[in-house]
Amino acid sequence: MGSRIGIGLLGFGTIGTGVVKILTHKEGLLKERVGVPLDLVKIADIDLNRPRNVRVSPDILTTQALEVIHHPQVDIVVELIGGIEPAKGFILEALRAGKPVVTANKALLAQDGRDILKTLEETGQDLGFEASVAGGIPILKAMREGLVANGFNRIYGIINGTANYVLTMMEVEGISFQDALADAQAKGYAEADPTLDISGMDAAHKASILATMAFGRYFCVNEVYVEGLEEVNLRDIRYAREFGYRVKLLALIKGGPKVEIRVHPTMIPLEHSLAKVDGVFNAVYIEGDAVGPTMFYGQGAGEMPTASAVIADVVDIARDLLKGGTRRVPPFSYESLERDVRLKPMEDIVTRYYLRFMAQDKPGVLSRISGILAKGQISIESVIQKGRREEGTVPVVMMTHEAREMDVRKALAEIDRLDIIGGKTILIRVEDGKGW
Ligand code: HSE
Repeated sequence: MGSRIGIGLLGFGTIGTGVVKILTHKEGLLKERVGVPLDLVKIADIDLNRPRNVRVSPDILTTQALEVIHHPQVDIVVELIGGIEPAKGFILEALRAGKPVVTANKALLAQDGRDILKTLEETGQDLGFEASVAGGIPILKAMREGLVANGFNRIYGIINGTANYVLTMMEVEGISFQDALADAQAKGYAEADPTLDISGMDAAHKASILATMAFGRYFCVNEVYVEGLEEVNLRDIRYAREFGYRVKLLALIKGGPKVEIRVHPTMIPLEHSLAKVDGVFNAVYIEGDAVGPTMFYGQGAGEMPTASAVIADVVDIARDLLKGGTRRVPPFSYESLERDVRLKPMEDIVTRYYLRFMAQDKPGVLSRISGILAKGQISIESVIQKGRREEGTVPVVMMTHEAREMDVRKALAEIDRLDIIGGKTILIRVEDGKGW
């Protein structure tokens, strides 16, 4: 080492192709910035014949990942296979072989990150995972370095490009959910299994990584409360606008004696910058206790934005290696992830709620609904009855004041059993913009 840094790539798919393009097309720029060339030594993929719109010498291609990991000229291993296995085994192998790793693998870190963290501790090796959250936005580096002086009060993120693209296309372009999703898949934004995008799981993976970085204790994705887009429909998106809100699939992370980590459709005020984030764009609003509010915006998915984040990690590690060290900055910002941080159960959160009941249009209906809400200490801020009878019921839409989740769930269970109610009540949580 010294005159060059060797890169070994595992996975030559969409993001891998972007990484190869940057390493080849921007070779000169990167050399000027790093001081030595970043040399693409070897690439492994199970399918070497798939057409890719970048040219590489056939000599550097292999189907054997171990050949890449143990190649004597590979200094940094880049894992872009995705999923749990075999990616996990390859990352552990590389770390144990004394090689730092760069990965975009949010599912692995969020679901099964403990073995990786343990091996990082044991080996003292480095791990870069900027590309795992919010694609091209350097949010992890910002939290780890630029915002290191801050405790984190609130982190609100639109961190799934596909879900945001689908919501935007439905609302603004009037196209169907299925067409919008197919379009996102064709553009390479969606996960291999797009239900991860729609179910909120992909955003939950990213939220667990952000929370680990914010609070210094490992949060597994199983600890994140998740709801996806399954129950969001155009009708609620339109009513939200009438109340002055927009519906976004939001990741919410809140500090406090007990922290909150959740992902669900959320109404945010139209005038807030987050409400204006459209299409595949992501944004993360972070409130630090020293810096105050900050907001980061950019493309959260796709070949080149994600490859940009991968290369940023490669360069950070290359610079450390060239100075004869490793891991100048701990991967998750804290020297140890053993902090005693408690999670607030979802039932205990307090927020405002949008509720849409499908109720019969006759006298006394509203008072029965509001009676049950009042019994549960849920106070109504405003109510609108929309239109006239549709198949025997009409939508009755309410905004509540702040209420406790457990009380709202209990009240809705009771309301949904009433004979005047013609279907499951729709609930969307509201972040009202107070203080943010
Ligand atoms: N499927 C993800 C998204 C890709 O749509 O945001 C980036 O993680």
